[in-house]
Amino acid sequence: MTLATAWFRSPDFVNALYIVAFTLFIIGLRGLTGPNTAVRGNKIAAVGMVIAVVATLIGEGPSGIPVINSAEDAWLILLGLVIGTAVGIPAAVKVKMTAVPQMVALFNGVGGGAVALISWAEYRHALETGGNPELQVLIPILFAAIIGSVSFWGSNIAFGKLQEILPGRPIQLPGQQFINLALLLTAIGCAIAIATGSESEGLFIGILVSAALLGNLVVLPIGGADMPVVISLLNAFTGLSAAAAGIALGNTVLIVAGMIVGASGTILTNLMAVAMNRSVPAIIAGGFGGGGGAAAAAGDDHGDRTVRSTSAQDVAIQLAFARLVVIVPGYGMAVAQAQHAVKELTRVLEGKGVEVKFGIHPVAGRMPGHMNVLLAEADVPYDQLKEMDDINPEFPRTDVTLVIGANDVTNPAAKDSPDSPIYGMPILEVDQSAATVVLKRSMGAGFAGIDNPLFYDPKTSLLFGDAKESVSEITAEVQAL
Ligand code: TAP
Repeated sequence: MTLATAWFRSPDFVNALYIVAFTLFIIGLRGLTGPNTAVRGNKIAAVGMVIAVVATLIGEGPSGIPVINSAEDAWLILLGLVIGTAVGIPAAVKVKMTAVPQMVALFNGVGGGAVALISWAEYRHALETGGNPELQVLIPILFAAIIGSVSFWGSNIAFGKLQEILPGRPIQLPGQQFINLALLLTAIGCAIAIATGSESEGLFIGILVSAALLGNLVVLPIGGADMPVVISLLNAFTGLSAAAAGIALGNTVLIVAGMIVGASGTILTNLMAVAMNRSVPAIIAGGFGGGGGAAAAAGDDHGDRTVRSTSAQDVAIQLAFARLVVIVPGYGMAVAQAQHAVKELTRVLEGKGVEVKFGIHPVAGRMPGHMNVLLAEADVPYDQLKEMDDINPEFPRTDVTLVIGANDVTNPAAKDSPDSPIYGMPILEVDQSAATVVLKRSMGAGFAGIDNPLFYDPKTSLLFGDAKESVSEITAEVQAL
């Protein structure tokens, strides 16, 4: 028996491995539905991915030739694995919790880029070996090229915005929507020309380039608070393009994995858009986050408005004598890594008979479930975390709301200022509570880059400083009472 005819290369064995792999993906995804099972779910899905990679390498490619057909193939693949591992593992180990969203955007983009390159390689190969492939292969290749390229370039822009390499505010060209439409029509036009018989690598490159420009230009104008929806949409795009590549390559596991990502990304996009009171087509068309007149970036100039700063001691007195305290965490809690200190404050307040609840906004932080993950890490009981729709009716009877590093998700301009870029986005209505204390370091703006009238509300006081230090000081003061 030679290596080429070895039993483990039989299609039945490879397919059996694929079934094991995508069963593990599904079990893993199920684990991701709760914070207690998420880590195990992630590990299970990773084992599934290892099995899928092994199965692909020992199996045959689309043309029936073994994927590893020569020593040169083996070395090239090994080199790819080594480079990927050398880049991926240190990046994932070293990344700070607050930088995970941009890493996810980057990895998502890499997936889309890989799909676009695979489709290009497959098309070149087809041209060299006899011309355009049959339509059932050609159409998925063209689809994967367009969506994969959009996803790669769009994700890079999202990465740049999250990493603050690019400005978070919307960047718009004159006639942007017409340019986008022209680029989309160019990509589709080239694809139709190829699908109807033109055999041209130039047309294929035209698809990749126009989709690349489209990916950049669709994401650049998105600003304000709409990035979460877009990131999740790009994630769905990568999944769908991978599934299309799977159809072109006849690779079952790529179809299943791509569809899982595509379907879950689409559901997440829809949930986020509903939570943000936005429509996905309007976000893509650049209809939101466009920087209205009231969008003055927060800075040192607050007109004649004043903010009331407070001390840890005063906050401790307010909290200790409250009946109901609602804690609203945001991105700043993640930056300060204040979750354990927050849990301790909660314990001390509850020891004094204060009822403490957490108000969690669906896009607080920089990734879906960001606050839930941090608070679960600090063992805050899950039933203490209240979603926006459940906590909002409670604010009018709340004595003190403690806003810990949250900004945009509490901004009343979303309700009151029609020309605000975040107008219409549902917020945590903390301004309804009897008193609000905001913990932040300065008068700096949040992700949307806009001023927050909450800070000038006479019922609001600000405790300036790093959230972890401020919370620890408050806890010590409460204990001393
Ligand atoms: P932001 O509006 O971004 O505000 C964070 C606040 O934390 C800032 O005002 C900052 O003020 C403060 N802060 C930063 N470091 C701090 C520290 N060490 N100690 C104390 N305070 C600190 O956060 P948010 O209210 O959670 O809203 C999230 C925003 O991100 C929304 O606009 C959302 O659309 C966007 N976004 C969300 C996601 C997802 S899926 N969650 C993804 C991408 C974008 P100082 O600098 O003055 O301290």
